[in-house]
Amino acid sequence: MQRVETTAALRALLKQWRQSGDRIAFVPTMGDLHAGHLALVKEARQHAERVVVSIFVNPLQFGENEDFDHYPRLLERDSEKLKAVGVDLLFSPPVAEVYPNGLQGVVRVDVPTISSILCGASRPGHFSGVATVVSKLLNMVQPDCAVFGEKDFQQLLVIKKLVSDLCFSSEIIGVPTCREIDGLAMSSRNRYLTDSQRQQAPMLNQALQKAKKAVTGASLVDFQKIAEQATISLNKSGFKVDYFEVRRAADLAKPMRDNDEFVILVAAWLGSARLIDNVRVPIPR
Ligand code: PAF
Repeated sequence: MQRVETTAALRALLKQWRQSGDRIAFVPTMGDLHAGHLALVKEARQHAERVVVSIFVNPLQFGENEDFDHYPRLLERDSEKLKAVGVDLLFSPPVAEVYPNGLQGVVRVDVPTISSILCGASRPGHFSGVATVVSKLLNMVQPDCAVFGEKDFQQLLVIKKLVSDLCFSSEIIGVPTCREIDGLAMSSRNRYLTDSQRQQAPMLNQALQKAKKAVTGASLVDFQKIAEQATISLNKSGFKVDYFEVRRAADLAKPMRDNDEFVILVAAWLGSARLIDNVRVPIPR
């Protein structure tokens, strides 16, 4: 595996590979890699001869009270993991390489509407930070495809919309959420859970599965009631629910009974960890 930190070195390598006719798949990450990230790499490998992974903790997507300074930076450990799964190139730029003119007044990419609901309502500016850095990284790498996890379902839709509206040529591929054996979605944030919170955490996915049954089971489904019941039950169990919502899967608009597919999304605090998860609900018609 090769490693580069500058866009110039990245582009020089990519140029050689493209000249040999290789397709390039890209997996952007913020590091602290777990099995979920390695599943993204595996998927990337199905689509291209060359797999590029970036590790960049993006300051622009963290709010003032969020954990940017304490976000785990484990480059050497992550690099070993990527080498072991056959990644071709690790791109780990410093902040000044991605934001050469600083963060103040930086050109921002804003994906309206979808960025201001759900996680965007609780984390103002977060999705603009994500959309901006993903645009920059896609411009730097110019991959044939880029792979993202479906755990961050709202993020995936934001990225699909920006790629479509800004005419990027990369195909965006979503990969189903990787779960621990008890159903908890894999996440770097799980490290913040105490032992007893870790025992409780799978209740989030259980609540989603129960809501999914309710959405598919009844002919006159009351989306709001399903979400309210799940919220009450999770709050009683020690979570602090930020939102629990049934939405139209295509764009996270409010659900209508005749939609083809729903997604149920949850964000909830358990101690100091803000956990997110979702489940898709296709409706066979
Ligand atoms: O999902 C992430 O790890 C980040 O939001 C991303 C897409 C790498 C952008 O910084």
